[in-house]
Amino acid sequence: MKNIVILISGSGSNMESIARAAQREGWAGKYQAKVAAVISNKAAAPGLALARELGLHTEVLDHKAFDSREAFDAALTTLIDRFDTPQAPTLVVLAGFMRILTPGFVSHFAGRLVNIHPSLLPAFAGLNTHQRAIDAGCQFAGATVHLVTAELDHGPILAQAVVPILASDDASTLAARVLTQEHRIYPQAVAKLLLNV
Ligand code: GAR
Repeated sequence: MKNIVILISGSGSNMESIARAAQREGWAGKYQAKVAAVISNKAAAPGLALARELGLHTEVLDHKAFDSREAFDAALTTLIDRFDTPQAPTLVVLAGFMRILTPGFVSHFAGRLVNIHPSLLPAFAGLNTHQRAIDAGCQFAGATVHLVTAELDHGPILAQAVVPILASDDASTLAARVLTQEHRIYPQAVAKLLLNV
């Protein structure tokens, strides 16, 4: 079995879309893969309760309990590595995990660390993507699934979805329209990756 570990910090809706796709599409039979754990750096993340409702194993690793970014990432690496199986190393899926990752963490999981970002990368890396796209006068926005490299919100693109920006949009209406597309492309991209890791 290939284990998938999903890292979250917030509402966990992308985590839910992946977990539900795994069940609905029978990833255990198709890809010999399963969501083995959902890990949050915040104990109060609503996505943790959602994960438990979905019957998933959850863990909390509070970044505030560590003196440095390096120490937190080292502990997180140890925690994730527990889910490696003799058949395969764990696939690590960032789903609204709002942490800047150290180069050591990224290189440890190279090629099996994937992220979703709410913009059409390489445009609008970082935060407040929707407001920035509106302010720039963009006519289209979207989301990108990419392999994670040491540079924030960069790396080989695995999937994208495009949505129009409407004259009536504000950041929250645009975010909601993009999020719907995130829920469509992220499970598809993860499933594809499972064939190659
Ligand atoms: C999603 O829109 C995701 O693209 C974004 O956070 C949201 C998490 O929502 N991620 C980033 O901005 C990463 N740079 P969710 O917790 O409901 O999946």
